Amino acid sequence: MSRLSRRAVLGAALGGVAAAGLSGRAQAGTTALAVSSWRQRWAPSAAVDGLAAFETVEDDRADSHVPGRPHIFADGGTYRWNMHMVDRDTKTDRQRQEVTGMRTPAGGAYLEWLPGQTWRTTYSMYIPSSLKATTTWTDVMQLKQPGTGTLPIVVQGLRRVDGVQTIELTLPIAGIHVGHADLDPLHDRWVDVDFQVKVGDGTSGRLRWVLRSGGSTVIDVTRTGVDTFLADRVRPKWGIYRSLNDTSGSLQDCYLRTTDMRGYQLVSGTSGVYQAEEARISQGVVDSDHLGYSGTGFVNLDNLVGSYAEWTVEAGAAAGAVLDLRYANGTTANRPMDITVNGALVADGRAFNPTGNWDTWATASLPVTLKAGSNTIRATSATAEGGPNLDRINLH
Ligand code: GCU
Ligand code: CA
Ligand code: CA
Repeated sequence: MSRLSRRAVLGAALGGVAAAGLSGRAQAGTTALAVSSWRQRWAPSAAVDGLAAFETVEDDRADSHVPGRPHIFADGGTYRWNMHMVDRDTKTDRQRQEVTGMRTPAGGAYLEWLPGQTWRTTYSMYIPSSLKATTTWTDVMQLKQPGTGTLPIVVQGLRRVDGVQTIELTLPIAGIHVGHADLDPLHDRWVDVDFQVKVGDGTSGRLRWVLRSGGSTVIDVTRTGVDTFLADRVRPKWGIYRSLNDTSGSLQDCYLRTTDMRGYQLVSGTSGVYQAEEARISQGVVDSDHLGYSGTGFVNLDNLVGSYAEWTVEAGAAAGAVLDLRYANGTTANRPMDITVNGALVADGRAFNPTGNWDTWATASLPVTLKAGSNTIRATSATAEGGPNLDRINLH
């Protein structure tokens, strides 16, 4: 949007009142908005790129089970890791079939995750009931400094706690448990993983870990002030790495599959698009059963007061911005929402009027003021009918 039209939107929204409450940028029109959003950096196709999508592939690196090769391979549009009971890593108290890193293009350079940067990987994961949680450790994703001799920095693992199978995210070096969910309901189905990390030493690291199953959020946890860096760089690893010291009898031949693997880096720009299906959702599901949405779906909020979607937006400096919210309302009645920025109400019961049907999307715009650093933008259903379906927001 041009500066002129931005002014027009702001002016209209303020109903002609002098723009005294707006930021310096909006008044002077000089400071560009600086907001961070995700830029896709890696999107391999298992069928086309195969294992060349990864930085390294460690298929039975100790040559313990040569007839079982390949243990790691592209299986149609998915990646698959097979683990047999006879497989052994170089340390024989454990088993390991893993890939690391992200090459783009396939076979080309790998992406380096460095201190101060924020990275993200999303993928769908299939954990069969044969891949069980254990009393010791079973890792199905790690963040690690390359090379040997250091502990993993972050682990997504399957742990059996008091007889209950869980999937958990931990920082093993500091002994931090970020969160966990029951594993049983997630067995034998595709589960969406969204893992975000700000790489940082001391207390400057940050994590978000989201699991969704059938459109519903299973867990969505954020942890700030943590150490996510040792030295050199960090890189993700996927596969199965597990101890043989399990005492629950849970070890058997098993496998892991993934698909739709993606890598993103958080980059700063003068505008940013934030999908609703990637927001923190309270009382709502991610759906894709109507036409015309962007990204991978939209949020269908539960039809009650208080259901919401909440986005976190990093801004380089305090600034005024225009918030566009893309929505569909297939009913014949208004579906008002309250919009808050950093907890402050910026639109009380804003109208989201009918768009004709659930396949037709419209954009509502309103002025907002961002502070430097992390901002939360929340859209909350204001009536028992619930809000409209939400596709995305755009800040510019
Ligand atoms: C329908 C529609 C949903 C929508 C819901 C509602 O079920 O398919 O996408 O969210 O109506 O009334 O909110
Ligand atoms: Ca709804
Ligand atoms: Ca969307």
